[in-house]
Amino acid sequence: MKNIKKIALVVLATSTLAFGHGDVVPHSVETKGLEKIADDVVVNPLRGNEIAIEIGKGAYNTNCARCHGLGAVSGGVAPDLRALDAADDDIDEYFITKVKEGAVRNGNVYMPPFGDVLSPEAIWSIRSWLETLPTDDL
Ligand code: HEC
Repeated sequence: MKNIKKIALVVLATSTLAFGHGDVVPHSVETKGLEKIADDVVVNPLRGNEIAIEIGKGAYNTNCARCHGLGAVSGGVAPDLRALDAADDDIDEYFITKVKEGAVRNGNVYMPPFGDVLSPEAIWSIRSWLETLPTDDL
């Protein structure tokens, strides 16, 4: 029994260490004011939607900024998401697939999958917000 407690403690300590930098737990996002979007939609239905842009900004800050940078200005840890062409249907599909599936190779999680955490509304809101950002310093 004692040993089990010890192991639990070690696991806890290790995960705190590994995840100590910023908030790693993905956050679901409140998308009130937006219509429900089907899972198989691959072109951003929320482009230019003011409510979505506002929601996307918050969703980005709680879920993506720690790796992709504040204001989506990458510090080099992860790609600069402003570099993805705006208003491009092919990039839309790439974007939502990537966010849902994350980037996991050989058991290494470069980016966690968000498919179980973020609704399509939340993901498209993030894309809509990213598209409003200036790209002149890229
Ligand atoms: C733990 C760090 C981390 C978090 C959190 C994270 N990402 Fe990523 N993301 C990465 C890394 C690293 C890559 C590059 C992946 C690779 O090497 O394939 C990446 C790649 C991407 C790509 C592909 C970019 C390209 O230029 O090809 C998109 C799109 C993306 N992330 C969106 C997001 C969004 C949206 C969120 C928040 C919902 C998010 N990411 C959260 C680390 C992260």
